[in-house]
Amino acid sequence: MHNALELLNEDCLLDHVAVVVKDLKAGKKLWEEIGLTFSEEEEVVEAQGVTTAFAPMDKNANLELLCPYGEDGPIHKFIEKKGEGIHHLCFKVPDVKAKCNELKEKGFKLINEEPVIGAGGCLVNFIHPKSTGGVLVELSQQPKED
Ligand code: CO
Repeated sequence: MHNALELLNEDCLLDHVAVVVKDLKAGKKLWEEIGLTFSEEEEVVEAQGVTTAFAPMDKNANLELLCPYGEDGPIHKFIEKKGEGIHHLCFKVPDVKAKCNELKEKGFKLINEEPVIGAGGCLVNFIHPKSTGGVLVELSQQPKED
């Protein structure tokens, strides 16, 4: 097997994989049976109409469960159309705006014209699945600590 770590790009690291569930408690229980441990905190992201829960998968990346709490919002629609399952994966980048400009120049279609505030106060944008072979990709910049 190859050790590919030498190819790792520190400016584009996996931050989380997001999975949509109908029931947050049941979703957590399932993934805990597989071997993950969830943080006690659950965060409501009003813009998405979801409650989220995080469990680390390795030293850098989390599994994020997304559970819709209402009848509208993009995640509720996703469940109605496709059912539960993987929703997106997210890469951490140092400068989300610069990354979006770079991708736009390469012809990628982005969901938002400008980055928006996501879970944990991160600045985020998404690459449209039409540009990525069907995979919704989130780009996320950590909030500045001061
Ligand atoms: Co996300």
